[in-house]
This record gives sequence, structure tokens and C-alpha cells, in this order.
Amino acid sequence: MAYENIIVETREKVGFIQLNRPKALNALNSALLTELTTALELFESNARIGAIVITGSEKAFAAGADIKEMQTLQFADAYTGDYFSGWERVTAIRKPMIAAVAGYALGGGCELAMMCDFIIAADTAKFGQPEITLGVMPGMGGSQRLTRFVGKSKAMDMCLTGRMMDANEAERSGLVSRVVPANELVEEALKAAQKIASFSLPVVMMTKETVKPGL
Ligand code: HXC
Repeated sequence: MAYENIIVETREKVGFIQLNRPKALNALNSALLTELTTALELFESNARIGAIVITGSEKAFAAGADIKEMQTLQFADAYTGDYFSGWERVTAIRKPMIAAVAGYALGGGCELAMMCDFIIAADTAKFGQPEITLGVMPGMGGSQRLTRFVGKSKAMDMCLTGRMMDANEAERSGLVSRVVPANELVEEALKAAQKIASFSLPVVMMTKETVKPGL
């Protein structure tokens, strides 16, 4: 499959996906979603792959859903057409997914990171749900997942003011599992993924499956 919006590689037993729309800070449009879910499902069905890493660029993991694509939508069409439903294919993946986040993870970008099983953040990472500044609300699970991960007060603060959280605050709040220097981000995420992939795949998948319902 030829991808235009992501880069897909296999690193030993790890599936590696890099979001690749640098001019739009990896804004998540429909084409990117289609490619991402295709790549994830191919890794899911590939018995040699034991874990998956999703990353972005140095400047942005993803700056959100694609505002330019969204602004042409009418509310009723977006609602009845279930515009964001494709993202449920990401959360249906049963193999572990690690988000390696540097730079901006905003709106849908933060939500994509939270769809992964854990987040490793570069010290440059910035998380936020700025939807309120656009006159919309988080649409891809952000209001629920963020609340479960960081608690009511921080989630309300983030969603209602639209402010960003830096990597240290995100680690303190439990949003990310660890913070690493930006130049070591991909290496650290791959190392964690290789470790996971070295274990029994069915037990890894069962472990993910049993942790998930508590979230
Ligand atoms: C489309 C985007 C984009 C986005 C950035 N770009 N974010 N395009 N969708 N979400 C584009 C810009 O238009 C610009 O393209 C290029 O990326 C570089 O962005 P700049 O703004 O010039 O960069 P900078 O000054 O460094 O600012 C970075 C930034 C800012 C702070 C991240 O880009 C920003 O605030 N972006 C929007 C973030 C946001 O609101 N995200 C939430 C989206 S809503 P051009 O062509 O002009 O050079 C969402 C869920 C909606 O995610 C749910 C609805 C129900």
C-alpha cells in the first residue's frame, strides 16, 4: 500500500507509524485516518508484529483534527454521518500501541495519543484540548478519556480554558508514562515496544484487554 500521509515501517517485531503531513502540523484529515487505520489493521493481522509505535514530527505529534476539512461541514451532516466514527477503528486494535509525542498534541492529536495504550512524551511535548477556542467541543473522546486520565479538575481546566499542558505537568497528572529528551523519543518508544514484543503475544493482548475496561 502506498501511503501519502503517514510513513509506515517495520522495526524488528514493532510496527512503526509516523504521521507525515508536516505542512499542516500533522492535522488529522480523512485521508490520514484511512491510511492510519489501514496500517494499524495490517499490523494487527501480521503475526510477526507484537507492538506498535505511533509518532509525529519534532514540532507536532498532531495539531488536531483538520480544521480546513472540518469547516466545510454542517453540524447536521457531521452528526448524522458520524464524522468521527472512523476513529473507533483505532481503539479496536488489540495489540499494544505506544504514542511517542513531541511538540503539539492538540485536540484530536491529544485524543489520538490517548487512544494509544500509553504515551511517552518528549520534553518538548504540549498537550491541549483547544476546541473551545474554535466554538466546538472535543469530539474524539477527549472529554471522557482526559477526565479519566487526569481527573475532573485538570480536565475541566484544559477543556474549558483551552490551555496547554507541558510534558512535566502531563507526567505529574498521569497523562503520560514518562518524559524523555526529545532526541531520544523514538529510540525510547521503540525500546519499550521491542520489550513488549519480546513477550508472549497472546498474554500481551490479554493484559491489554483486561486493563482497558477499567479505563
Ligand atoms: C488544519 C492546521 C491545524 C489544524 C495547524 N495547521 N493546525 N491545519 N488543521 N488543526 C496548519 C496551519 O493552518 C498552517 O498552515 C500550518 O499548519 C502551520 O501552523 P501555524 O499556525 O503557522 O504554526 P504555529 O504558528 O507554530 O502554531 C502552531 C499551533 C497552531 C499553535 C499548533 O497551528 C494552532 O493553534 N493550530 C490549531 C490547533 C487546534 O485548534 N487544534 C484543534 C482542532 S479541532 P498554512 O497553510 O496556513 O501554513 C479538533 C477536534 C474537533 O481537533 C472536534 C469537533 C467536534
